[in-house]
Amino acid sequence: MSKSQWSTVSHTIEDHIAWVRFDRPEKRNAMNPTLNREMAELLDSIEFRDDVGVLVLSGAGEAWSAGMDLKEYFRETEAKGFGATRRAQRDAYTWWRRLRWYQKPTIAMVNGWCFGGGYGPLFACDLAFAAEDAKFGLSEINWGILPGGGATKVATELLSMRDAMYHALTGELIDGRKAAEWRLVNEAVPPAQLEARVREVANVLLQKNPVALKATKDAVRRVREMTYENAEDYLIRAQEAANSFDNNGRKEGIKQFIDDKSYKPGLGAYDKSKRR
Ligand code: ACO
Repeated sequence: MSKSQWSTVSHTIEDHIAWVRFDRPEKRNAMNPTLNREMAELLDSIEFRDDVGVLVLSGAGEAWSAGMDLKEYFRETEAKGFGATRRAQRDAYTWWRRLRWYQKPTIAMVNGWCFGGGYGPLFACDLAFAAEDAKFGLSEINWGILPGGGATKVATELLSMRDAMYHALTGELIDGRKAAEWRLVNEAVPPAQLEARVREVANVLLQKNPVALKATKDAVRRVREMTYENAEDYLIRAQEAANSFDNNGRKEGIKQFIDDKSYKPGLGAYDKSKRR
């Protein structure tokens, strides 16, 4: 684990998986300005490493993230004036945006508390797995603000209008099971199995063509806002752009199925190690 450079985030790289952690357990991993700056640096430093194929974002201790730091991100920053407030917002939103469009596939491993501003990085991750006993809440209403920083957008993107409205207006907690039922996360699993399940999914992703993974994750996010016609057009162009990056991968994928008969695409990925 490397915590030398940073005081609020940490990471380990193991078998092509980067395990990145919010690491302020004593403050339930609340996002203060330092954490937002450090997380941006950490994400930057590992994005294009050849030994990183998948990124997992989790939290040290009993929280994933207790959202924005009410003292340091709100009160102390606001006391410094408008410029400081905008800078703090920009630092937070910037790393969430970077994560939404990260080069490598990303998985949120929600091990505990996930509140408010935490919905930004939760949504930024391509996939999300939660412990059954993790707790999620848009607690903004409980202390007197609307769910900003993208949290309302995340709720309406992922939840039904009725569930989003109930969640935002009541501030009631839901557990991991309910979060999976509401589609805020892909799955909820018993806490003891969370890491193993995430590792299993990460290993599935590691088998795939990395150019296709990046093209696919971007396409899923982009086409949501397009008309059918625009999406058709975008997808043609996105695939052609991917081909200019790596045209051999897909040719190899066809060859191993049609000529070598060594795998079936309907049942799994081609062998990437046999690249021409
Ligand atoms: N901002 C600032 N400090 C926080 C935050 C936060 N979001 N969350 C926890 N802390 C601090 C506490 O003040 C406490 O500090 P202290 O030890 O100096 O007193 C420390 O972290 C531990 O927190 P406790 O409340 O003692 O921990 P507990 O396990 O009992 O409760 C819980 C955990 C439920 C997460 C609670 O800390 C809490 O409600 N946190 C706030 C959650 C929240 O509403 N976040 C804001 C969402 S809105 C937004 O992000 C825009």
